[in-house]
Amino acid sequence: MADKKAILTVPGLDENIELPIYSGTVGPDVVDVRGLTSKGLFTYDPGFVSTAACESAITYIDGGKGVLLHRGYPIEQLAKHSHYLELCYLLLNGELPTPEEEEKFENTITHHTMVHEQLLQFYKGFRRDAHPMAILCGVVGALSAFYHDSLDINNPRDREVSAFRLIAKMPTMAAMCYKYSVGQPFIYPKNDLNYAENFLHMMFSTPCGDYQPNPVLSKAMDRIFMLHADHEQNASTSTVRLTGSTGANPFACIAAGIAALWGPSHGGANEAVLTMLDEIGEDSEENIQHFISRAKDKNDPFRLMGFGHRVYRNFDPRAKVMKETCDEVLKELGLENDPQLHIAKRLEEIALSDEYFIERQLYPNVDFYSGIILKAIGIPTNMFTVIFALSRTVGWISHWKEMVSGDNKIGRPRQLYTGHDVRDYPAK
Ligand code: ACO
Repeated sequence: MADKKAILTVPGLDENIELPIYSGTVGPDVVDVRGLTSKGLFTYDPGFVSTAACESAITYIDGGKGVLLHRGYPIEQLAKHSHYLELCYLLLNGELPTPEEEEKFENTITHHTMVHEQLLQFYKGFRRDAHPMAILCGVVGALSAFYHDSLDINNPRDREVSAFRLIAKMPTMAAMCYKYSVGQPFIYPKNDLNYAENFLHMMFSTPCGDYQPNPVLSKAMDRIFMLHADHEQNASTSTVRLTGSTGANPFACIAAGIAALWGPSHGGANEAVLTMLDEIGEDSEENIQHFISRAKDKNDPFRLMGFGHRVYRNFDPRAKVMKETCDEVLKELGLENDPQLHIAKRLEEIALSDEYFIERQLYPNVDFYSGIILKAIGIPTNMFTVIFALSRTVGWISHWKEMVSGDNKIGRPRQLYTGHDVRDYPAK
């Protein structure tokens, strides 16, 4: 119960309104405004800048200090000592697995990686030049038509099985999007490879020859999965929660999350970084300065992609780890002198020393470096957001599971109505 209260005085109301204040483990207190409706008032917060839409124990972010904790563990420590599947277990279950639990979990995920053979027909219905995110939205939503046996959202075992299926099948479905777009046969998963290696195998092997995963690149891939695994109540996670609050099945909810992630202000940013670097084109100081000026010009809609974040106002802790991984990958591949990479580094240097960016606290975010790494690994630009969706699936499903297992109420925001008051339909 709340032992602190906020007092709200509203012109025209005889008495003050008392609003309970709750404290979380860390982070800002929240004012419970639910009682306002009965007083004829709503709160107004477009963009949810000051709204805590739910209670959650999964991920904590302190944007001012550049802190990101999953179940209490700092992302830097997880990135250094853990790996993606262990993080998946942690996000889903709240604690790190024991060695036995880890082995069982990895075995379960590995044995759910194949997709129903009939799903292949869905891919074949798309144009070859369809954006892979369009295909992914469709096929993930379609999973609900295949796995009727795990759709009872009120059954904890069904919820668990759906989570396993989604985490396991996302790399297979993501790689299939790529294979379809280049006209190559789909490659089946291999049970002796780890999660990241398996994804690279399904992306780059062909029936004529197996791709041998390079350990540096597989590790980088695993890092990319980890650094995108969850990020509190961002736009796509909130979309998953809102969709799930209606009782929709988990596959439909994740498809909704994928759609929300697609936008360039969210997950589409890593693709937008590479498009921006292409647009900048020639690696010359004059060219780079021209684009910096455009980013600062209020009459130009151009923004420096991969810079800025709604929550991080100091630095993005994921970007720090990603930068290190970026250097490792480029060294391994001998790409340290890549001209596009040089443009990226120069943009970063200028932005970090330019008053415009400093004043507005605009730092490189995770997507600035992830795009460069993915390009170096040989992944086409239009697959970048698909990889983000693959990685974030565990975050989405963990939030969905947390919400559905708790005291869930359908999400139903209200509005400040500014349209016409009632008026009569004109006589004809
Ligand atoms: N380039 C140039 N100026 C910028 C940028 C940028 N990338 N980002 C913000 N600004 C400026 C705004 O124009 C605004 O300036 P003003 O105060 O003079 O009007 C100020 O900084 C504040 O920006 P807002 O748009 O109010 O910040 P908001 O929190 O709403 O937006 C966002 C955050 C969407 C991420 C924004 O910084 C952006 O568009 N960045 C580029 C896209 C990007 O990289 N997105 C990835 C986010 S990370 C993720 O989803 C994993």
